[in-house]
Parts: sequence; C-alpha cells; structure tokens
Amino acid sequence: MRAIVYKGPFQVAVENVEDPKIEHPADVIVRLTSTAICGSDLHMYEGRTAAKPGIVFGHENLGIVQETGPGVVSIHQGDRVVMPFNVACGFCKNCVAGYTGFCLTVNPGFAGGAYGYVAMGPYRGGQAEYLRVPFADFNCLKLPPGQEHEDDFVLLADIFPTGYHGCELAGVTVGDSVAVYGAGPIGLMAAYSALLRGASKVFVVDRVPERLAKARDIGAIPVNFSEADPVAQIKEQTGGEGTDKGIDAVGYQAQARTGKGEAPATVLNSLVETVRATGMIGVPGLYVPSDPGGVDDAAKRGMLLVEVGKFFEKGQRMGMGQANVKRYNRQLRDMIIDGRAAPSFVVSHDVGLDQAPEAYDKFDKRIDGYTKVVLKPAA
Ligand SMILES: NC(=O)c1ccc[n+]([C@@H]2O[C@H](COP(=O)([O-])OP(=O)(O)OC[C@H]3O[C@@H](n4cnc5c(N)ncnc54)[C@H](O)[C@@H]3O)[C@@H](O)[C@H]2O)c1
Ligand SMILES: [Zn+2]
Ligand SMILES: [Zn+2]
Repeated sequence: MRAIVYKGPFQVAVENVEDPKIEHPADVIVRLTSTAICGSDLHMYEGRTAAKPGIVFGHENLGIVQETGPGVVSIHQGDRVVMPFNVACGFCKNCVAGYTGFCLTVNPGFAGGAYGYVAMGPYRGGQAEYLRVPFADFNCLKLPPGQEHEDDFVLLADIFPTGYHGCELAGVTVGDSVAVYGAGPIGLMAAYSALLRGASKVFVVDRVPERLAKARDIGAIPVNFSEADPVAQIKEQTGGEGTDKGIDAVGYQAQARTGKGEAPATVLNSLVETVRATGMIGVPGLYVPSDPGGVDDAAKRGMLLVEVGKFFEKGQRMGMGQANVKRYNRQLRDMIIDGRAAPSFVVSHDVGLDQAPEAYDKFDKRIDGYTKVVLKPAA
C-alpha cells in the first residue's frame, strides 16, 4: 500500500510499504478515507525528536473497517469508524478511570501509546491506505454510514477532543472569560469548545493572520501578539483583572514576542500573568522531557524557567498532558450529528496522498493559509 514515510528533517515521501495484517484476535484493519496532518507531526518532521527515517506518520484516522480479527465483537466489516490518536487497552487502571492517554498496557515504560508517533509504541501511522487498530472494540468509535460530516468526524481523532480537553483541564464553565494562546488547530478547537461550554468571552492569541481570522469567525476576540504585549491587550479588555481561565495551545515551540526564535516558557509565563488570581490554566500544548533542538542546556533537558513564584502568589492551578480522547469523542460526535458543532471550519485543505509532501512543507511554514490538512488516501 501507499503511505507517507519520514525520510529525514523536512522530508516526507509517498512510498510503497507492506500492507498491515491482523496480528492479534482483537485487531481490525481499516481502509482510510480521511487522515489529518497534526502540529504534533511537525515536531518529528522538523527533526526535533528521535524519530528515525522510515516511520509512517498519522494518528488522526477515519475509515471503513475492511477486516476484523476473530475476537472482535462490536465492530463489523463495512463500519465507518474514527480512532482516538491514543492507542489504549480499555482494561488497565488508567483506562478504566478514563485516562486513556496514559494506558499502561500498550506502551510499557512510557505514558500512553499513539499511531505513527516516536516513543509512543510500535503502532504504524495512518497517513496511508490501511491501518491496523489494536483492541478495536475499545478504540473504534462508530459513525453514521455514508460520507456526511467526513471532515468534522476526522477531527474527533485528536484536535476537537484535545481542544475540549484544554477546557476541561482549565475548568472552563458558563460565563467564564478565557484566554487561549495559539490559533493553530488545537487553539481554535479550544476556543470553539470554550464557546460551546458557555464561556462569555474568549481571547485567542497568535500572529498568523489567517488563523486569527478563523478565531474571529467563530466569535472569539483575536489578539495579535506581534503588535503589542498580549497580556496587556487582554487585561485592558477585562477591566485590568485578567481572565478566569487560560489555555496553552502552543507548547515548547513558542515563539518570542519580539524578534525571531523560540522562547519555550513564554506562553506558560504569559498565562500566569493573563489569568486572574485563583484562576485555572489548561495545557494541551506539548512539553517534552528531552529536546535535542532546545534553545539552551536546560531546555534540552526539558527544564524551563517558569514563574512559579507568581503562580503560587496567585493561587492558580494548572493541568497538563495528552488528551484522553475516548473520554469526550462520543459526546462530541453526537454534537456534530445533531448539528450543534461543526469543527471542520478549521480545515483549510483536503488533498490526496501525493500532495502530502507539499502540504507538510506549507503547514510547517504556516503559510498560504495552511491551517489544517486532511489527506484523502482513496482520492
Ligand atoms: N495534549 C495533546 O494531547 C495534544 C494533541 C495534539 C497536539 N498537541 C500539541 O498542541 C500544540 C498545538 O498544536 P497545533 O496542531 O495547533 O500546532 P500549530 O503549530 O499549528 O499551532 C501553534 C500556534 O501557536 C502560535 N504561536 C507560536 N508562538 C506563540 C506565542 N508566543 N503566543 C501565541 N501563539 C503562538 C503559532 O503561530 C501557531 O499558529 C502542539 O504543541 C502540539 O504538539 C497536544
Ligand atoms: Zn494530532
Ligand atoms: Zn489501558
């Protein structure tokens, strides 16, 4: 089958790889119809991780079940399904408690598993024609048959539940004011989820005009951090107090406000400043324990200079980590089916596998309006 293969920094290619097979009675094979490129794929694409050439990317997968293992009971050939990016077993202590992003079975020694992701287990990615899904009864979410809402449903694999998870970590509730840093796919989904949860005022901070325009379209207030200090801009619009809640949808590749280059703690510190005393901060943006591309020795070891004194003084709380997609995907699917949510406003490009190398390049450079790319392997 054809698949997107990582060749080295800033290089992916469409190549032929072996078809996946049923390896365990609980597996299914899915023929992919939609599979999205994620900001997390870019960490590997840029050569910032230990990902070796040869890895097939792709953890945001939707398709039609082609074949089922003999132990699969609830999923059948022909079912249309979307899989959480987390590979999870469903029976370990963390899965039972709903923390499927931290499954103890699928990737021993590391917190959680995922398809096509360095250090997250031996699960090949789905930017390809077919995907093997382990523990299929647990990991497949059934969708209505047909093609309706294809680009909404594919976002249930990661970014819609991950944005929602940011709100959950920050405890966003009715009437809250919320500051979301980052207007990439995760930030836009966090802002959208905050509005779904009844937030009164949602600020979205970025500097990419097309992304800020999408934030405005959904009813959020865009804040361009290259024009002026975003903390001051938000405080000015919240009576000097700051927001009730904050979400970091940027992670360790945060860019310095002025000049060029990375300032990996800048968003965490801006959030401590932006959110009012006793407010809560949710961090779906990724931070890593080791980063060969880090700006200094501490950053290379995953250690950042965070204003912990101010954080204490303000009595804030913070939650971080991988999203437990399974905890929210069914509910968010039903919001889509019932017409209460349409997250595909974030999708800027639907392309075939052949256009993936170009899409990676432009999405990585955040140019030409490449906000979210969905690959169509059957096209
Ligand atoms: N927790 C999870 O389960 C999970 C899942 C998916 C992605 N992620 C992570 O979420 C983060 C965002 O993902 P994405 O796909 O939206 O990525 P992205 O890179 O497309 O978006 C990040 C955005 O942040 C903006 N930005 C950079 N510096 C900034 C700053 N100082 N202030 C405000 N905005 C700034 C960029 O311009 C960009 O638009 C990544 O770190 C990704 O790895 C986490
Ligand atoms: Zn993703
Ligand atoms: Zn588990």
